[in-house]
Amino acid sequence: MSIEVSDGFDLPGAARALLEGNWKEGDYRGLHYAFSVPSPRSYPWQWYWDSCFHAIVRARYDEDRSRAELLTLLGALRDDGFIGHTVLWGQPLDLGRAVRYNIASRADLMTSTIQPPIIAWAWARALGDPAADPVAAPLLERHHAWLRANRDLDGDGLLWLIQPDESGMDASPKFDHVWGLRAQGRMLFPSLIHANRRHGFDARRVAAAGRPVVCEVLTNVIWSLSEQALGRPSLTGVLVDRLWDDAAGRFYDDVRGAVHPTPGPARPATWDTLAPLALPDLPDAIAERLIAEVLEAPRFAVGVPLAAVALDDPAFSDRETWWGRHRHWRGPSWVNSAWLVALGLRRRGRDDLADRMAERLRATIAREGFREYYEPGTGAGMGAHDFGWSTLAWELIDPRPPAFGP
Ligand code: GLC
Repeated sequence: MSIEVSDGFDLPGAARALLEGNWKEGDYRGLHYAFSVPSPRSYPWQWYWDSCFHAIVRARYDEDRSRAELLTLLGALRDDGFIGHTVLWGQPLDLGRAVRYNIASRADLMTSTIQPPIIAWAWARALGDPAADPVAAPLLERHHAWLRANRDLDGDGLLWLIQPDESGMDASPKFDHVWGLRAQGRMLFPSLIHANRRHGFDARRVAAAGRPVVCEVLTNVIWSLSEQALGRPSLTGVLVDRLWDDAAGRFYDDVRGAVHPTPGPARPATWDTLAPLALPDLPDAIAERLIAEVLEAPRFAVGVPLAAVALDDPAFSDRETWWGRHRHWRGPSWVNSAWLVALGLRRRGRDDLADRMAERLRATIAREGFREYYEPGTGAGMGAHDFGWSTLAWELIDPRPPAFGP
């Protein structure tokens, strides 16, 4: 399937030009790096999941650079298997950012928190069986072993987070009840970083101190796909048992130590309840309910895909506040969310819905360019310019079968 349109906008060509324009290559602290920055002006380093999205798109035309980008991320792997949310290739953090970034010290190569562990799945989709790559396989295994040892707090296979931005959805209002004024995008967020730094960014120590930890939906969907890419069993059963609320028809994070404990149905309606659609073995009854009751409900369906928060939810916001980047994931639409959900729709034979999402995004990008996110009503581009993962729209309009795995 490939969407034919006649407005003259060459989305694949523009996507390639963007990814190549954002390419950065060099040597730093004895390591070679080669990757695309998420956005030259706003995000000048390597972000974990951004790079994985870039590699998925880039594999369509340049497997060598796709592999190089993923190997660069694996190159940052610490001996114990940890890879940080942001790897600071080329130059250390400036003082202003040092307060907002989760670093233990300004001398560190990377932050001490994680992002959704998508690399093994991205490798499989982009390049083939990761276990068959002699360089990547042992590094990926070591990385997954770290995640299991340090973040699977209950031993059931699911991972727990110690900060909102570890989910990739920084200021999502779904975390406000968990961290209160210390949630991201709220005034006291820097004090959460400070507290976690005192606990060595160690999830067990954070939990033992009675501070909040979250078993988050999107992170665990991605983690399950990555575990499967490495030949491990699916986590869908555990994920459904722990996070699915059948009465409400939605997935909710499991939370410990919340500042304002709030039952699932009273939390904001955020898009991530749809993320499990990407799981190949999600039970049909659940998938059908998510599609009919969430995705096709006007509160999500009328917007440019895919709004981070339901348009009629009181928590929806697309405004900035004086203290910072309030709107990141508090409302506007992101392309990676649309891509993940569309993938699930196509798996289920709902190409009609996936095509509709693809066409609307394509038209939006033709007009606005590859922006970081979009105002869901008007489609106006917002946030960073020349934003790498928005090129996933190419995957949406012309899906490429995965090279390997789920
Ligand atoms: C924002 C996003 C995060 C992303 C980063 C770089 O912080 O919330 O998911 O990785 O920007 O693009």
